[in-house]
Amino acid sequence: FNQCVETVEWLRTKVPENLQKPRVAVVCGSGLGGIVGCLNTDDGDAGRWEGDYKTVPNFPVSTVAGHEGKLIFGTMGQQRVPVVLLVGRAHFYEGHSMSTVTYATRVCRLLGVQTMILTNAAGGLNPDYAVGDIVCLNDHLNLAGLVGFHPLRGPNAEDFGTRFPPLSNAYDISLRQLAHKAWRDVRAAAPSPRRMHEGVYAFVGGPTYETRAECRMLRTFGADVVGMSTVPEIIVARHSDMRVLAFSLVTNNAVLEPTVRADEPELQGMSREELDAYLGKGRANHAEVLHAGQQAAVDMQALVLRIVSEL
Ligand code: 6GU
Repeated sequence: FNQCVETVEWLRTKVPENLQKPRVAVVCGSGLGGIVGCLNTDDGDAGRWEGDYKTVPNFPVSTVAGHEGKLIFGTMGQQRVPVVLLVGRAHFYEGHSMSTVTYATRVCRLLGVQTMILTNAAGGLNPDYAVGDIVCLNDHLNLAGLVGFHPLRGPNAEDFGTRFPPLSNAYDISLRQLAHKAWRDVRAAAPSPRRMHEGVYAFVGGPTYETRAECRMLRTFGADVVGMSTVPEIIVARHSDMRVLAFSLVTNNAVLEPTVRADEPELQGMSREELDAYLGKGRANHAEVLHAGQQAAVDMQALVLRIVSEL
């Protein structure tokens, strides 16, 4: 808490006064930093402030390609809603502790943020989802948390919230309704086959993508998408009573077919190259994840802009 206060006090000496109390925070996931383009630009230097995470006291830095590390204060929409954008996040798989991963979320709370909008890139487990679809999260499986890697483990930070916060309604239903309405408007303005679903996000530690057996397990557990972020931030946001809205961009489809058996008759006589091509089908890779992000980023930006404008 005291570290967060230090960060906020520093920010208050740097950020123009009219931007110091953002009502909304938007966390931009892999390849989704284009949301910066939604900020108003018509009031010059007074309308925006940017800082690299590495220049902000106590702020964690991300080391992943495609993840910048920038904190941007500005306004969005005709109502000039004051917002803070977090472009890039610290992930658990980088070696950060859960409290480091959620540090920025706590800073948002102290800045006065009431609503957090979180975005990420995720693997699709629901066979109905296509690459490039958007999933509005309505629940999660905190797999790392269930076995003890939990952002609220340790003495409770009473300044933020209670010891045993409920999560049964973590994903604000009126924000989700607003998201569906905003999506209908975005679709009407720029038709495309992209769809928005509602679904359950499974949080895994990473950094490996899941094996086929793990994908089937997650699907059986009720997950629609799987990824390596967002859930710790959501928990910390809910602990301190911020409203939460989260979107996954489906960047690849996880493989749900049975693991290929070496004694399958159709594999006999294939060359090493043919086997590699056969087994490589549907394998997740980081380049694919970033590419889907670029394609869908424009729709995601329009969606976030419409939602924030209504808040
Ligand atoms: Cl397939 N798995 C995980 N854990 N994270 C991802 C992903 C898959 N695709 C994008 N991010």
